[in-house]
Amino acid sequence: MPIKSLISEQQIADRIESLAAEIAAVAIGKPILMVALLRGSFIFAADLARALHRHGIELEFDFLGLSSYGKGTRTSGDVKVTSDTREPIEGRHVLVVDDILESGLSLICATGMMFERHAASVHTVVLLEKPGKRKADIQADFVGFTIEDHFVIGYGLDYAGKYRELPFIGVLNEG
Ligand code: IMP
Ligand code: MG
Repeated sequence: MPIKSLISEQQIADRIESLAAEIAAVAIGKPILMVALLRGSFIFAADLARALHRHGIELEFDFLGLSSYGKGTRTSGDVKVTSDTREPIEGRHVLVVDDILESGLSLICATGMMFERHAASVHTVVLLEKPGKRKADIQADFVGFTIEDHFVIGYGLDYAGKYRELPFIGVLNEG
């Protein structure tokens, strides 16, 4: 299937640098425990972590595996924990990182888990946001790009397990 570029590699890099500045300007306690939601956010989290380092932020890392899509392009509405965090969360300053905020069910599940485990604070950052698709009442504290309602791939985002390695965000041209 042909792929149309929506956000270029350079645009992503520039935005991550400014996002890191926005996050660094907020007095989140330190060190920050970055909790990256798997699998979609692994590339974004890696680039954001290094940008935060350039802004003088100290980080620790954990990962939370969530699954809501199965193999299709529509959320199943049912979020499963596929692999849990390993770090103690109590008293930590958590920054939950996700690739894209759509229904909000993934992010509400992740932040809910962090609050239940008595995180000292919970902030959220997403690279992409699709407005108008929300099923849960949640907003991200930091948003990279707001995009129209396309199914996007690349830079960690997949379609049926493919295209995560693309360095840009693209749209699959059907037909
Ligand atoms: P939500 O739970 O509906 O907010 O969706 C969040 C999760 O669904 C993200 O972490 C992605 O893994 C996946 N997702 C949502 N929209 C897209 C898309 O356009 N392309 C690829 N994955 C998506
Ligand atoms: Mg995901």
